[in-house]
Amino acid sequence: MMYISPARADGFMKIGLVYYSRTGNTRQVAKTLEEKFKEKNAEVDLIEIEHVKRPGYFTGGKASTFQQELPIKNNHFDMQKYDIIIVGSPTWSKRPSPFVKSFINKAENIKGKKVAVFSTGMSRINEREQFKEIIKNDLKNAGMKTFDSYLALQFKKEQIIDGEQNIDDFVNTVLKL
Ligand SMILES: Cc1cc2nc3c(=O)[nH]c(=O)nc-3n(C[C@H](O)[C@H](O)[C@H](O)COP(=O)(O)O)c2cc1C
Repeated sequence: MMYISPARADGFMKIGLVYYSRTGNTRQVAKTLEEKFKEKNAEVDLIEIEHVKRPGYFTGGKASTFQQELPIKNNHFDMQKYDIIIVGSPTWSKRPSPFVKSFINKAENIKGKKVAVFSTGMSRINEREQFKEIIKNDLKNAGMKTFDSYLALQFKKEQIIDGEQNIDDFVNTVLKL
């Protein structure tokens, strides 16, 4: 059955899925979400935020603690064509990766856009509230429309060990935003 989102009675919902991934976990989730959204006939562009230099634990953790930006290679992020933007990030020092902050500050045409968020991390999924509050606040300050929809995934090495059960709910909620 064809699914036409209520947000776009004229066609398919266009999703811009923006993420940063240092070691592949967040990219893995981004790809899973891309598949799921495509199964529901949404159009998805995966947009990877690229670091200029791969930070070590100390540099990454420190920049994250103070929520400072870190330099990225991407020159343009034009979000104009998307109905919904999804932002994915690893958890660093309990917070979103600084590269996501660099994206938020560089992105064009994000004002008024709907945005949903997901995180990956080693800690338990109920310990990601601080991450959620910080990123939601940053996105709201950039003029975006934030929602309660938030997906947290717990990884051990390259395997999801918790949160996978919430992926389908997240996808369905996003499609109804
Ligand atoms: C600098 C740094 C700080 C981290 N701090 C946390 C943390 O506070 N809580 C947590 O759950 N995981 C933390 N991690 C683990 C990553 O969030 C986790 O491995 C994540 O899934 C990596 O995503 P990626 O493979 O997409 O880079 C940290 C990793 C790095 C590199």
